[in-house]
Formats: sequence, structure tokens, C-alpha cells
Amino acid sequence: MKKEIIEKVLKTSGFSSLNPMQKSAVEKGLLDGKNLVVASPTASGKTLLCELTAFNLFSKKAGKMVYMAPLVALVSEKYQTFKGKYSREGVKVAMSVGDLDSSSPWLSDYDWILTSNEKCDSLMRHNVNWVNEIGLIVVDEIHMLQDPSRGPTLEVTLTRLRETIPHAQILALSATIQNVKELGEWLEAETVISDYRPVELHEGIYIDSKIQFFGRDSYKLNPNLAPESGILENTIKMKKQALYFVATRRYTESLAETLGKFNQNFLERNEKKELIKLSDEVKGVLETPTRQCRKLAECIKNGVAFHHAGLLYKQKKLIEDNFKNGFLRCIIATPTLAYGVNLPAFRVIIRDLKRYYSGFGAKFIPVLEYKQFAGRCGRPDYDEWGESILIAKSEDEAQELTDRYILGEPEEIRSKLAFDPVLRMHTLALIASGFVKTEESLMKFFEKTFFAYQYGDVSEINQKLESILEMLVKFKFIIREDGKVIPTRIGKRVSELYIDPFTAHHFIECLGRAMRVKPDTFSYLHMIANTLEMKPFLSVANKDFEEINNIISTKKFLQKAPQDWDLEFDEFLKSVKSTLMFQGWIDEQTEDQILVKFRVAPGELWTRLNNADWLLYASQEIALLLGYKKLLNDLRKTRVRMKYGVKEELIPLVRLEQIGRIRARRLYNTGLKTISDLKKIPLSSLERIIGTKVAAIIKKQLGEKVELIKEEKQRTLSGFKGK
Ligand SMILES: Nc1ncnc2c1ncn2[C@@H]1O[C@H](COP(=O)(O)OP(=O)(O)OP(=O)(O)O)[C@@H](O)[C@H]1O
Ligand SMILES: [Mg+2]
Repeated sequence: MKKEIIEKVLKTSGFSSLNPMQKSAVEKGLLDGKNLVVASPTASGKTLLCELTAFNLFSKKAGKMVYMAPLVALVSEKYQTFKGKYSREGVKVAMSVGDLDSSSPWLSDYDWILTSNEKCDSLMRHNVNWVNEIGLIVVDEIHMLQDPSRGPTLEVTLTRLRETIPHAQILALSATIQNVKELGEWLEAETVISDYRPVELHEGIYIDSKIQFFGRDSYKLNPNLAPESGILENTIKMKKQALYFVATRRYTESLAETLGKFNQNFLERNEKKELIKLSDEVKGVLETPTRQCRKLAECIKNGVAFHHAGLLYKQKKLIEDNFKNGFLRCIIATPTLAYGVNLPAFRVIIRDLKRYYSGFGAKFIPVLEYKQFAGRCGRPDYDEWGESILIAKSEDEAQELTDRYILGEPEEIRSKLAFDPVLRMHTLALIASGFVKTEESLMKFFEKTFFAYQYGDVSEINQKLESILEMLVKFKFIIREDGKVIPTRIGKRVSELYIDPFTAHHFIECLGRAMRVKPDTFSYLHMIANTLEMKPFLSVANKDFEEINNIISTKKFLQKAPQDWDLEFDEFLKSVKSTLMFQGWIDEQTEDQILVKFRVAPGELWTRLNNADWLLYASQEIALLLGYKKLLNDLRKTRVRMKYGVKEELIPLVRLEQIGRIRARRLYNTGLKTISDLKKIPLSSLERIIGTKVAAIIKKQLGEKVELIKEEKQRTLSGFKGK
């Protein structure tokens, strides 16, 4: 049976045999239901282990797989792969990453459920009814456990899953980590530690116009060029591609501009033609391109792209696809690209090894991260080996970097569970969903975590738990009675809404005040902007003080503004600045104006709007529960305005499909202000205002018979759902 499963999976994948790492996983019991922690290099084929186990289970009808990964991009990549390969075998594959306030009942029909760590946590909070059907839990990139902001969610979710379904098999996957054994002991798992790589990795250092490697020849580069360009020239001569990692978004842009100008000289005519096409496509993602879009388009014309969280999803996808098919010579990226998505290049240049940590100054990045970057190099099927390159300015520095990184061992993973904000959120979640019913069982739960395993005792957590419980009682989210912990109605709802209890309490206070004063849209925008979920706030420069102080003294706030000398005053100023950005958005400022005035790039704006939408939804739900009916209408309106970035007068128009802020404004300004205006105007006149396709789409929605031609374009940030 095992043999058949392996053969089937290999055949479906088009591979001839398992690689050594995969063989060793099978020997350790991968297909016998054993828990496994696998630590092996990037691109060593860990995903196939997941497929083998899940398909084994599917064939035996032995349960569902839940696959968790830290990035939506990664979940979506696996979804495409799994669906493409296994649908025809009858496996029903689902992806669930969105709505955190839903138990997504439709998922119960599926065999393989792929989710982000946060969505999985949220599903557990909603007590999904199919949890007992899970036979396999896959945790991809388990080293995420040590991430201070997101690790604890993964840790609690995994602990909870294990407690709920102790018989389910666990498969935890990671790149090279130091304390695999410890993780394995915690998860009662066998460990597979392998250094197998499909393509050899050569780790080198640039110094004095040379790239040096251990035990092989160095490259001599053009001494008249800066290191980055020198390396690029050499890469071009080899007809290969390169991926540069730098510390900040701004660096990605400036280096892409520099390297683009350099690369331009090497482009052939037909290449130029293709790149111009691509450049136009990237620029046209928004109807009115921002200067960031234009800058990116310029770089792409030269065969080089920058890649960071400020870009729109479609732009990132275009860049990734066109790098894979070879049109783009290089990508300059921030570290996020190093995690997950499969985008190998012959060369990876890791330029900035120090990062600024607030409160600590510039510090070397962890070895784990370096290995993750370096591991991106070498394309299986194309390259015999891949090269990672560090840049040193002196012999001393070269020695230091060699010792620290090339010869260095990745650090141990440490649990970050003792952080307050996450602890209080999870404590409420455990109580609210009825998973723990007494203080004792709460403490017992935390004894099962990796934190407890690693540190041997939970006294630090227990102390914090006491004050968290007190706080939750004070907020009226729980009741404590003779050692029992009972959630209140509002406590339950807050936990389901997936917001910090602190934020929920802040909303309750603000909404209470809103019932007494007459708030305006700004008041609500500030309410949601001044939350932990919205951090980091926008920074306030000297030139902003006047405007912000003015706002503080004239606008209506739903919370008491702190005094200048209060500790929270600085943060308050920043929260006002963030509010101004939202206000700008709903006053129909363009993405470019927002970029210039607030230094918020479209991709980041999109993320912030997404968060805002969630918080507005949550506040609406809380207002509903508290019986504050008279606030609901304004909250709803604010939410629609934020979603589309429009003034109030455009609300009826943006409710139509294919009508975003720009088209709605165009219609409105030509006198078509309401649905009935649109009904009255003849199709031919509407066509002249808005174009044939869109006019037809509008008329169809209004119940008229017209022929439809498909139109697909992202007009605004909000008109786009494909995160
Ligand atoms: N047995 C095999 N034979 C040939 N190719 C394989 C085999 N197993 C996996 N591959 C290929 O190797 C590539 C990398 O695999 P995968 O994405 O699973 O890497 P990974 O180990 O998960 O790396 P990362 O740590 O970056 O997530 C994929 O393109 C995959 O198709
Ligand atoms: Mg992987």
C-alpha cells in the first residue's frame, strides 16, 4: 500500500523517485501515522512529504488534512499546486484565509483544508464541528513559532489542536533550525534532519572586486563598478538571474533604479519590446498610477524590478511570473520574499546584514534568516549549483561575516508566548470558546505549550495570567467564581471577532460616549485608528504639528485626549495622523496624493484599509450587542465609505458591481447621482460616459436586457479582492 501511494504521488508530480530527505522521512514513519518534525534546506522538497501523508490518509479514508502556513501567499501557492495535482484523484481541496469571524461551515465538505495560522486559530475559536475528522495537521515553516508577534498564535493553536484531537498525525516542516530535537520532544515526534539540496549551494563573499568561495575559484569583477553593479555585470555575462535582498523598501527602489540603468545597456531589441509591454501592464494596474507605480514601471523597462509590501498584489504577481520566465534580469526585494514562495534564482545577493531594531539600534540579522535568503539560490532543472553572496568592505569584515554566517549555525527557536497582548487574547479565546472552564485547566493548558516545555515552568506565565484574568473581569468579558471562569456574552463575541480584548474595551467605551455626544465620521475613524491592530502608527514630523494640534482642538473624539505631558501623548498624535490618512481616502484623495502626503504606498494602504474594515465591522457588531442601534447606520456608512474610498454622496453608486470610486465620481459629476438616474438614461448615452462594457454591466444590474462583454481591471484598491 505504502509503495503504491508513493508511486502514485511521484507519478502525479512527474518525479522519478523520492530524494534522500524524503526517503528518510518515510523510513521514520511518515506513512505509518508517526508525528514528524522535518528540518531541511529550502527547496529540498518538504511539500511532497505533506502530499504523501495527506494522500495516504485520503486513500484510507482516514481523515482530513489541515495545512497551516504563515503567509497567505504561501497558502495560495500550495492551494494551486494541490488542487492542480490531486483534484482528479477525487481529493477536495479548499483554501480558507479570509473572514476571521466565521466558522466557514462549507469547509466540512473538503478533504484538505489549507489555512493561514490566524484563520486556523479563528476556526478553533468558532468550535468548528469537523474538528474530530482531522487526521493530519501540517505546520509549514514551524520556525515561525519564534516570531514575537505571530508565533504565539501558532503555538496556542497547535497546542489546542493536539489537546482536542490527540490522535491526529502532526507533520511540522522547517528550514534548518538548531533545536529540532527539542521541538520533536514537545510534539512527541520523530525528527528528520537533512542537509540535502537538489542544487548545490555555494556561499561566497564579495571583497575587493572579487567573489570568493571556499574550495573553488573566485570570480574577478570589473574594479570600476560598485559591488552591486559588478556582481550584476558578471551575472549577465553568465546569462543568469539574480535576487538582491536589502533591508528597507526605500533601498529596494534606489538599488533597482541604479541597476536598471546599468542593465539597460545589455538589453536586446526584442527584450526591450517585451519589457515595455510588461512595464505598461504594471503601470496600468490602477487607473491612475501612483509615482510608485511609475517608478516601478521605469525600472521594469530596464529589466529590473523592486519588490516589497508597498506593491499591489497584481504587480507582485507580474514581477514573480516574469522573473520565473526570464524576462526580468533581477529583483531587488525586502526580506519578506525570502519566506515561502518558490522563486529561485541562480544568484542571491544579501547586501544588508544589519537591521534597525527600535530600542536596540542596528543589529546583525539572525543566522536563520541568512540561511533562508541564501537557500533561495539555485534553480532546480536549470542550474548545477546556486550562489549566495555577501558583501564585505574590508578583510576584517569578510572574516567576521564568514564566521558569523557562512560557518555559523542557525539559532535556537524560542517560544515568545509570555508576551502580554497575545497572552490576553488567547486567554480570552480559551475561556470564551469553552475550551477551559476553570482557572486550573487554564494553567494546565499553558503547561502543554512549547513555552512550558522549553523553560521547564510556567510561573512567569501564571503570574501574568492572574493580572490578565483580573483585567478580563474588569472589562466584563468573563466572570470568576470559585475557581471557575465563565465567559460573558460580550466576552464570547469579542473573542470570535478576533480583536484584542483591549481594543474591544476601547470600542465599548468609545461607543458608550458616542451615544451621548453626536459623533461624526472622523470620530469613528479615530476610534479604529487608535488601536493596537493599527500599529505601527504613521510617524509625525515637525511640519505636521500645527495641522494635528488644530485637529485635536477642533474635532470630536470619542476618547479623552491625553495632555501634552502625558506619556501617551506622542502615540495619540500619531493615531490622529493615521486618522487623517483615512479621512483623506474617504474624501477621495488619490492613491498618489496619499503616497506623497502620508508616505503610505498603495500596498500598505490596502493592508491598512483591510484592517480598518475589520475593526469597523467589529465595532458595528459590538454596538449591535450593546443595543446601540442609533449608531449602526453611521458605522455602516463609514465602513462603505472606507471600503470604496468615497464621499457619502457616492454610496448608492459604488454598490453597483464594477463601479469603484473613479467611475462613481465620473457618473456623479455628469449628473447621474442615483440608481433611478441610471435607470432613466438610455444605454447609448451611458456608453458615451463610461464606455460600452461598463455601461452594459450597469444596465444589466438594473434589470435591463443587454449583451455583456467581460471587463476585468483593478480600478481602485478596494475594487480588488484577490489578496
Ligand atoms: N522527489 C523529487 N524529485 C524532483 N523534484 C522534486 C522532488 N520533490 C520535490 N521536488 C521539487 O523541488 C522543488 C522545491 O520543493 P518545495 O517547495 O517542497 O521545497 P521546500 O523544502 O518546502 O522549501 P522551502 O523551505 O523553501 O519551503 C519543487 O519545485 C518540487 O517540485
Ligand atoms: Mg516549503
